[in-house]
Amino acid sequence: MKQSRMKPTLPTFSEKELTVRKMFDRIAPRYDLLNRIITFGLDTKWRKKTVKQIDTHSGGKILDVACGTGDLCDSLHKAGMKAIGMDFSRGMLNSFNSNAPLINGDALKIPIHDSSVDGVTCGFALRNFLDINPFLNEVARILKPGSRVALLEVDEPENRYMKMGHSFYFNKIVPFIGGLFSDKDAYSYLPRSVVYLPEENEIIKMIEGAGLSKVKKIRLTGGIAQLLVAEKPKD
Ligand SMILES: C[S@@+](CC[C@H](N)C(=O)[O-])C[C@H]1O[C@@H](n2cnc3c(N)ncnc32)[C@H](O)[C@@H]1O
Repeated sequence: MKQSRMKPTLPTFSEKELTVRKMFDRIAPRYDLLNRIITFGLDTKWRKKTVKQIDTHSGGKILDVACGTGDLCDSLHKAGMKAIGMDFSRGMLNSFNSNAPLINGDALKIPIHDSSVDGVTCGFALRNFLDINPFLNEVARILKPGSRVALLEVDEPENRYMKMGHSFYFNKIVPFIGGLFSDKDAYSYLPRSVVYLPEENEIIKMIEGAGLSKVKKIRLTGGIAQLLVAEKPKD
């Protein structure tokens, strides 16, 4: 975990789940607008790439964990798959903009049978979970053998100059834009929550430790976002 950048204003372990849920309830109505502005629309392209990695048959049943307002569900639907959205924030689900069926549930205890879905997607949520390991175990449990998970997240570019520019944008400009259009505290938390993301080698080990194989990391847009893809081994 990237402890060096940890700031004291992040919630403690026991507060995190409730703080995150209330925060998303609050920012839900303008969440999509802020995503488009902050990423200059790149988030839409990243979601399409995420869906492409699922690579299942048409009509395949895909669970989008922490679906938020439903953008990934929408992309899955457009690609011919049957999306099911799941999120624990009622506010986000109330602002859901896709026709996919919805589950109000926790990513760490997914209310779905073993080996029952043809794929799992999850966008920009890993760093919001209380613990990533139980989530990965749940993903490995519900996937059918031979099917894939695609996890979309923010990342830090490797290039020194890009890293500096990105850090300034993410930590100063994003909270400012958030304050103008939505909620400054929430859009200050979101960049800071990157400290909850494990380093590359660590997250890959965690995914393998959950029993998933063929793990790969795809860097998006110069490394400002990442896509982690893995497969449940065939029996
Ligand atoms: C940054 S938003 C991402 C929403 C959507 N996936 C997207 O790509 O825009 C993070 C989402 O994770 C959800 N979330 C966080 N922790 C969760 C948990 N333990 N179980 C279910 N949803 C969770 C939040 O409610 C929020 O909707």
